[in-house]
Amino acid sequence: MGELGSGPGAAAVGVVRPAHERARRAVASPCPAPLAPAREPLLFAELPALRTLPFQPLAHLPTPVEPALACAAYLGRDDVWMKRDDLVSPLYGGNKVRRYELLLAAALATGRRRVLTVGGTGSTQVTATALFGRALGLGVRAVAFEQPLTRFVRRALLANAAAAAELVPGGGYFGAFARTVLELLRARDTSFVAPGASSPLANLGYVDALFELDLQVRAGLVPRPDVIVLPTGSAGTLAGLLAGAWYLDWPLEIVGVAVATRAACNRATVGLVAWRTRRLLARHAPALGRRRHAPCFRLFHGALGRGYGHPTPDAVAALPEIERLTGAPGEVTYSAKALVGARAVCRDPRYRRKHILLWNTLSSTLPPAPESARALLPPALARLLDGEPVA
Ligand SMILES: Cc1ncc(COP(=O)(O)O)c(C=O)c1O
Repeated sequence: MGELGSGPGAAAVGVVRPAHERARRAVASPCPAPLAPAREPLLFAELPALRTLPFQPLAHLPTPVEPALACAAYLGRDDVWMKRDDLVSPLYGGNKVRRYELLLAAALATGRRRVLTVGGTGSTQVTATALFGRALGLGVRAVAFEQPLTRFVRRALLANAAAAAELVPGGGYFGAFARTVLELLRARDTSFVAPGASSPLANLGYVDALFELDLQVRAGLVPRPDVIVLPTGSAGTLAGLLAGAWYLDWPLEIVGVAVATRAACNRATVGLVAWRTRRLLARHAPALGRRRHAPCFRLFHGALGRGYGHPTPDAVAALPEIERLTGAPGEVTYSAKALVGARAVCRDPRYRRKHILLWNTLSSTLPPAPESARALLPPALARLLDGEPVA
């Protein structure tokens, strides 16, 4: 990134790097990671004009779809289904993987060797960028803004460090914004993945995901959902699914359980991402006729509490349910709040006769997070690990 002291001759001219930086470089060689079998996205087969887009397989598909029976008592219904995108990759699952098949492919196609991103200290986006970027031979740098320390955040910080990501302490939101601008000005040979990774291009990954669900519906594996519930922040997942529903002419309602404050996640912000995603899809589908249905979304703000990453009593109470459902620990930023929202939907009389599907967006595969990785963190981030987790 053209940083002072980062060039190959730095040692020769006596530049002394901080200890965490020297340690990080020692583990920074690419690891032989399992990626994914080659495949053509269903979306490309449907719209061949999209075949010109760079594509890097990362996902193991299709992800299972199964009854969410393990938390039937919690939800108050035994007819809810779950789409297991937590299992989308043995390296790291969750809702960034399908998007990164396009986004990291685009980064690779530019020939740049580095990626800069920004997210919370427990951001799954930073973890996904660190792991998949490394597996693809890209150097990853991430500005991290602080969020309440939970066991999950602790794990994520250590995992990101262990994956040799260069983490840059950003402080609060404004500090992280300023730091990111600075990093962008200095960056060389670098592609930028914006917070949330919800560009229209990336979101096509979730159009493809709805096509995959459509095949599972047609195969009789799951009833066609009337309602999909999922956690929503930057809205790329919701936008992709909604655009897919528009294309397939499904009368679908998506309930996005807001995981960020209304300033960041509201009808206008989500609507804009959805509109831009659908516009990109429509541009490649000029022959598509009039749609009979108008799939729609609604936001549920009742699970958020004080804001992004803040635990709520309801979310903490939902944690064991997540573990029962997926076999992996949940966390309070996304999965537990999504389940709180799903329960509200399931118990709402308006949805009594509706087929409800919960889209699981949090990885069940936990990347290695050894305590020793603490030495790879810059001191300002390492110090955060000393706090008492709030959940
Ligand atoms: C596990 C998980 N679920 C849901 C979300 C929100 O997804 P989106 O930003 O597409 O709204 C995120 C965002 O990072 C996430 O990590």
